[in-house]
Amino acid sequence: MANIAPSAEAAALSFGGEMELSPGQARAALSGGEATFDGNIRTVASGRTGLKLIAETIAADGPGTVLLPAYLCPSILQPFCEQNLPLAFYGVGEDLAIDTEHLRRQVAELRPRAVLVIHYFGFPVVGLPSRAAAPDQVHDSTAREAARPPGTVGTPRPGRRAPPRTAAEDDPLSGAGSRPWLIEDCVQGSWMGDSPGVIGGVGDFVLTSFRKYLPVPDGGLVLCRAPGVVLPRLAPAAGGFVQRRMAGKVLRYRFLHEETGNRRLERAFLDRFQEAEAEIDHRVPRCGMSQLSLRLLNHLDIAGAVRQRRDNFRTLLDAVEGGTRLGDFCQPLFSCLPEGVSPLAFPVRVRGGARDRLRRELAARRVFCPVHWALPEEVRAADFPQAHAISADILSIPIDQRYDTADMQDLLHRLNESASATMQNMA
Ligand SMILES: Cc1ncc(COP(=O)(O)O)c(C=O)c1O
Repeated sequence: MANIAPSAEAAALSFGGEMELSPGQARAALSGGEATFDGNIRTVASGRTGLKLIAETIAADGPGTVLLPAYLCPSILQPFCEQNLPLAFYGVGEDLAIDTEHLRRQVAELRPRAVLVIHYFGFPVVGLPSRAAAPDQVHDSTAREAARPPGTVGTPRPGRRAPPRTAAEDDPLSGAGSRPWLIEDCVQGSWMGDSPGVIGGVGDFVLTSFRKYLPVPDGGLVLCRAPGVVLPRLAPAAGGFVQRRMAGKVLRYRFLHEETGNRRLERAFLDRFQEAEAEIDHRVPRCGMSQLSLRLLNHLDIAGAVRQRRDNFRTLLDAVEGGTRLGDFCQPLFSCLPEGVSPLAFPVRVRGGARDRLRRELAARRVFCPVHWALPEEVRAADFPQAHAISADILSIPIDQRYDTADMQDLLHRLNESASATMQNMA
């Protein structure tokens, strides 16, 4: 077992973990106005609630498969399973780009009702299908059957030259006959209901979840552009999930800033968060964003959060590419930061099978790095080796708006120390 005693320098500051809420922020949530959203946007309690509304729309339209990327958060399956919608997967490359050839084959073979894409870590996914359905394409099963062109699946006969692809054929979703709905999952950042943004501009449905990105107990958005579809307005969440997460956030603030080292307090907030997750894992809530979170949202400096996340991302990118210990065996998944992206984290791939060891070393120095994600069993390693290869060595380093430039230097120090300790233990 690695030597994971905390270093002498391990300071009180923790990196990562749930975003805490100060008493001042909590008080603000008890008064003041609520954030509002225009157009065909609905607020939702969580990302899964957004997916639930979409899944209900698909199920109401008739039976049919939903096609998901093989690299995904297991919780995405839940709302579709609750509606008994069959699921299938398409491949994603080791750079997290859509395997467009596999997507095309899956669409032609399975004729799905909907295809979901994920903008991983808030970066525009490579291979995103272009703008949605032509206006005359109707999402109705009769129209779907009628529109299905005969003999569209299959390879060209030997001796015959395949004709050049038309623009429509180039679209990986075109082989379904009636074009499937496109769902853009923006839960990992960069989309706050704004249009046009760097992502979220083409989907028939677009969704996000604020609680990954901002210090709010719940909340998210779902936008619908599908012609003729109006999503229901949901009553605001008010119950256990919101209250437990709110309590967890306030307790965590106390633990970090007032009673550092109080293990009982630490246990208390971890328990609140776990109970809240268990509640929503059991059944996806069918509620809108709580009034608490809508008020908090009105007070938060979102532009500042975006700026800080971008600055912090760049600091780590420069360090990893600039010959640090960390850079010796961590490879960033994204080596540039396009305009408009506000990333969830700084994801790296850890070489040499050392991910879990490095993660433990980091935790010993109070740097808590999640793994996005351990894949659900429905994605079989034999079918999707690339997705499983990423899942085995990916690690998300925190870069969120809680940390300023000085904090990032502290973080870098801990990262390099952890990298050295990991290497020593591997030698
Ligand atoms: C990409 C992605 N989509 C959707 C979800 C579901 O969001 P929520 O946990 O807010 O329901 C998650 C959860 O982590 C996610 O990572």
